[in-house]
Amino acid sequence: MTTSVQLSNGRLMPQIGFGVYLMSDVAVCEASVKAALQEGYRLIDTAILYRNERAVGRAIRASGVPRDEILLTTKIWPNDYRYDKARAAIAGCLERLDAGSIDLMLLHQPVGDVRGAWKALEEAVDEGTIRAIGVSNFTAEDLEKLLGYARIAPVVNQVELHPYWQQPDLLPTLEKHGIAAEAWYPLGHGSKSLLAEPAIIAAAAAHGKSAVQVILRWHVQRGFVAIPKSTNPAHIKANLEVFDFELSDAEMDGIGALGKSHPMFRMPRWAKAAVMPLMRPRALD
Ligand SMILES: NC(=O)c1ccc[n+]([C@@H]2O[C@H](COP(=O)([O-])OP(=O)(O)OC[C@H]3O[C@@H](n4cnc5c(N)ncnc54)[C@H](OP(=O)(O)O)[C@@H]3O)[C@@H](O)[C@H]2O)c1
Repeated sequence: MTTSVQLSNGRLMPQIGFGVYLMSDVAVCEASVKAALQEGYRLIDTAILYRNERAVGRAIRASGVPRDEILLTTKIWPNDYRYDKARAAIAGCLERLDAGSIDLMLLHQPVGDVRGAWKALEEAVDEGTIRAIGVSNFTAEDLEKLLGYARIAPVVNQVELHPYWQQPDLLPTLEKHGIAAEAWYPLGHGSKSLLAEPAIIAAAAAHGKSAVQVILRWHVQRGFVAIPKSTNPAHIKANLEVFDFELSDAEMDGIGALGKSHPMFRMPRWAKAAVMPLMRPRALD
């Protein structure tokens, strides 16, 4: 079972969750989420963009895990950011997931009519259909702007975060406002060079763990929430087995020293602003 961080709304969020990006094969997604829940994951991360919300909902209902033990996250995409469109998008998520209320809904990107979309999320919290709201891919500047008008503050910011990219400019702002740091690409998207880093290999050998488990343990000890994706049952199981060892300060420092000055995933801001709102997710499952 995983340790948790406490969100600013008081809810506990497991530090290791399960991401379902690139699981558009709905049968694979459903089987993987079911396997994850059976292994003990209690945080599932999907999005409208991933086109697998129905499969996630089916897996949750079939798992036998009490619904209130699961923190279910989804995200709305910028093409739905106008207030009225966001209201409709939220209704669509509720219908496709068919899991009662949604525990956490994020704005997927900081572009377009963020203010209109945030108002729609806040109203859904008032109405009880969403329990908490947050953001993804927001810079410190994006967050300060949102906090300037938000009636309900975001509880998390889900961003690219792993030993190669440690978000040096963002983490102080998250800490200042009590916003949890949730890591996408927690394994650097399975980067072979990251998994072969001597500091990680040495720690893995010292603790009898794999390189992936050492990276996930690093996230846990940094206080992050990580949502590794896997469709491999052995990986799904192993990725949760990171609570029976502890990295030393020297090992944490050695992994911390791997940080680079740029993220792994790169999209210029002008391209994000111009292209992303136009990227309509294809037909939903
Ligand atoms: N908000 C955003 O903009 C955003 C962007 C990207 C991702 N995300 C979220 O973050 C989640 C994770 O990101 P991600 O899937 O891109 O990258 P990731 O979790 O860092 O890496 C996934 C890769 O690692 C491999 N892997 C997982 N466990 C392994 C293990 N124990 N041993 C060896 N390889 C292992 C997976 O392969 P196998 O399947 O073969 O195990 C897959 O190729 C996504 O699913 C999504 O929920 C959010």
